[in-house]
Amino acid sequence: MATLVTCALPYANGSIHLGHMVEHVQTDIHVRFLRSTGEQVLFLCADDTHGTPIELAAMKQGVTPEAFIARFHEEHQKDFRDFDVVFDAYHSTNSPENKHYAELIYGRLKDQGFIERRDVEQAFDPKANRFLPDRFIRGTCPNCGATDQYGDGCEKCGATYSPKELKDPKSAISGEAPIWKSSPHLFFMLSKQREFLKALLERSDFVHPGLAAQLKNQFFEKGLSDWDISRDAPYFGFAIPGEKDKFFYVWLDAPIGYISTTEKWSGKKDGALEYWNPKSPHRIVHCIGKDIVYFHCLFWPAVLDVAGFKRPDRVHVHGHLTVDGEKMSKTRGTFINARTWLDHLDPSYLRFFYASMLGPGPEDVDLSLTEFRQRVNAELVNNLGNLANRSLSLLAHADHGKKLAAAAPGEGADLVKAALARVPEIRAAFAAFDSRTAMKAILEIGQSANQFLTKHEPWKRKKTDLEGARSVLSDAAEIVYLLTALLEPVVPKLAAKLREQLNAPPLTFKQLESAQYPLLDRARPTGDASPIINRLDEEQVAKIIVPQAPPAPAKTATAAPAAKPKADAGPPPEIEYPDFAKVELKVGKVLAAEKVQKADKLLKLTVDLGESAPRTIVSGIAEAYAPEALVGRNVVVVANLKPRALKGIESRGMILTAGPGGKELTLLDPGPRAPGSEVK
Ligand code: MSP
Ligand code: ZN
Repeated sequence: MATLVTCALPYANGSIHLGHMVEHVQTDIHVRFLRSTGEQVLFLCADDTHGTPIELAAMKQGVTPEAFIARFHEEHQKDFRDFDVVFDAYHSTNSPENKHYAELIYGRLKDQGFIERRDVEQAFDPKANRFLPDRFIRGTCPNCGATDQYGDGCEKCGATYSPKELKDPKSAISGEAPIWKSSPHLFFMLSKQREFLKALLERSDFVHPGLAAQLKNQFFEKGLSDWDISRDAPYFGFAIPGEKDKFFYVWLDAPIGYISTTEKWSGKKDGALEYWNPKSPHRIVHCIGKDIVYFHCLFWPAVLDVAGFKRPDRVHVHGHLTVDGEKMSKTRGTFINARTWLDHLDPSYLRFFYASMLGPGPEDVDLSLTEFRQRVNAELVNNLGNLANRSLSLLAHADHGKKLAAAAPGEGADLVKAALARVPEIRAAFAAFDSRTAMKAILEIGQSANQFLTKHEPWKRKKTDLEGARSVLSDAAEIVYLLTALLEPVVPKLAAKLREQLNAPPLTFKQLESAQYPLLDRARPTGDASPIINRLDEEQVAKIIVPQAPPAPAKTATAAPAAKPKADAGPPPEIEYPDFAKVELKVGKVLAAEKVQKADKLLKLTVDLGESAPRTIVSGIAEAYAPEALVGRNVVVVANLKPRALKGIESRGMILTAGPGGKELTLLDPGPRAPGSEVK
């Protein structure tokens, strides 16, 4: 049995950025781990090339869509490779294999009676002579009056609506007011797959249980809507057989790209079927972000089932990346391309940081630049890097001449045995996409070995007891060797460097199943030692932030004001549960936010707590959040705090944040709960 693992197919109209890299790093770690356990893995991805945005972007540049997507095809592959993300095949949805499978699957859906024709009324641009997707209609929000908003929702107030409700609509292509026109469309009857989907979502192994519950609530209470899989010409995509001027909607042929990439990899006609036939013994695992869960957990398995293909065994979902607590933003310069990172920083830093942050669930991950630098320096450089460098450079020194001591029972052997005893726990964590837990255990192993070195001081001991010093260093080197196996999925380049410096053969999770002390062949000399990675300083990290137009306002001072030092009163005393229970925490929704005059740090917020009237709360988050970024957002509020006057405004309640203060504050996110919901 093999496991086929995929990442979502990136759109071919933009560069790979650090958000994509969350998925690709997490998945690559999982794949490398599985391989290290001896599993056979096929790791696939491709570019998602069809649809209106790509077609129009190409038109704007005056090139054909084919030429346009070709450029990104090369660029994407190079970016992934340079981050040590290695696919067995990277294909394209605009390929003969994909056309073949899209037509085959559609034909089967039709034969099975799952395709229905219905008229759909849609916005039509009379000047450009084409139908307009919702995203290509701009107008005034019917809810808050904000101008220049999309046809399907307002970025200012977060309202969603149909394009017909938008006021003063204009085509984003020609600027002309759209007219409404009807055209026949083809629908996949998802509603007929209700029982299949219900049973699928009930399985504990298909998707994260929280997401399964969410999907069931949303879709099975309201009913499953059928799915429009056709688009009118002109459209960059595959023509629907037997129809005039109709094309497959990009989201129909995009996931079929998983099958066609398997076919491309196999190098033979019908080669994909070995994996995708309904009786296939192989596992199929899709790794995706939380924004595309419906497509992967509803439409895609339903289509595969009707068309007689194997459905995915598991859909692993990760959260979204924020940078310094906020959505990535081009103006703030936090929309960081993979290539920008590579131009300034080693990819291993990012792989290490993401691995330490990512757990098995779909929570968002934050790249706080300060935390990133501190963790890299403390954990990767000081803990793991220093352990290796201290022990291997002393062993390589003339005193020891690269010779290891013979293995012997004692404290050093016990240290190695204790570390080996933790391998099953690390293995289980990697298997569950929980690299955060794995990294924690790995760092603890590094820590224990560093303490062992500090205690026995082999650099001093060599003067009186050269053999004893060598024995201490050799046992520390055992831990370094163990780390090469444990770290390989996360930072393969660094693991390889360590192995080279140890002059030892590859060590895998598979070998660790039966490994015993000593792991190293003590008769073999070690290699030359050098630090595997450098410390990071602030200026170096700051280089990846490249604000784009509109330019960020000029800073008045170069250095950020330091957070106010806390009065050194020691940690707060322990409290009893009833004391804690006095605090009433509730979910609040920010309805409005504005700056407070003559108070740089304060914002005045209007917050809905599910009460008869919203409250005014003054909060010290003005340096960390722009008022516009807060409107519509959910926050955690201390609801029963006595009213206080701040800058002459009565504040009723307090908003919870994490971080030292100033710019370094992150709002606690209670998720999509109704205002007034309890937080416990
Ligand atoms: N083309 C579709 C996927 C088709 S799969 C059959 C698509 N492309 S995408 O380029 O927008 O996103 C590709 C993957 O990257 C998705 O899984 C998406 O969730 C992920 N990410 C894109 N931006 C992200 C963040 N900011 N953070 C984390 N992952 C995000 O969707
Ligand atoms: Zn609005």
